[in-house]
Amino acid sequence: MAVTGLILIVFLLVHMYGNLKMFVGYEAFDHYAHWLKGKTSDGGILAPIMPAGQFIWVFRAALLLAIGLHIWSAATLSAKTIKNRGDKYQVTKRQAQTYASRTMRWGGVIILFFVIFHLLQFTIVPGLTGGKADEPHTMVIASFQQWWIVVVYAVSILLVCMHIRHGLWSAFATLGANVSGAARKWLNYIAIFVAVVLYIGFMIMPLAVAFGFLK
Ligand code: HEM
Repeated sequence: MAVTGLILIVFLLVHMYGNLKMFVGYEAFDHYAHWLKGKTSDGGILAPIMPAGQFIWVFRAALLLAIGLHIWSAATLSAKTIKNRGDKYQVTKRQAQTYASRTMRWGGVIILFFVIFHLLQFTIVPGLTGGKADEPHTMVIASFQQWWIVVVYAVSILLVCMHIRHGLWSAFATLGANVSGAARKWLNYIAIFVAVVLYIGFMIMPLAVAFGFLK
């Protein structure tokens, strides 16, 4: 759970950075999207080490594997927890748990539905909610000009960030960093910081479109 979760967090930080290129300019954003897919004249990312267009498929395979293993670990861990406690806690003691830690399982399932919707919109059926596939910035702008899509993203990304806040903290603990009170405090700060940066970094662009700053 910890290792695949950390891989997915790194992906999200890079994805967020890529999205912010919308503020540099629409050409910069489209160029970045095409460069990742090896569609630029220089052969794109990692050319000539990899033939044009190959990196994206290796990357997608690795991402799918990380998501698959993350879900598989969650399912195995949940099955074990339920078996060990005979489906019910003897005593339900929730005071010390945060809202995020209680919602990891359901949060994870909702996030999966969001990712499926997101992939349909921009990758599997590009242009599904508006815009043209060969000009990615048009897909993003046309989508976030629709308020319901901004609301779906605001809520889903909030769930993603709550999931990450608790998940990052748990990953640090699993990997042995939770060694003292001071370490615990810092790990907590780092987890909150990453979650807040991701929320602001992802949401600022849809909001800029929704409020007409990006047209
Ligand atoms: C405002 C927030 C976001 C925007 C505007 C956005 C935009 C995009 C766009 C335009 C693409 C397609 C790129 C292309 O094929 O040219 C994409 C791909 C993707 N996004 Fe997002 N994204 C956002 C948030 C997220 C979040 C929160 C997640 C995960 C929880 C996510 C996961 C993915 C994945 C897995 C892909 C597929 C990458 C690939 O094609 O290999 N995105 N996103």
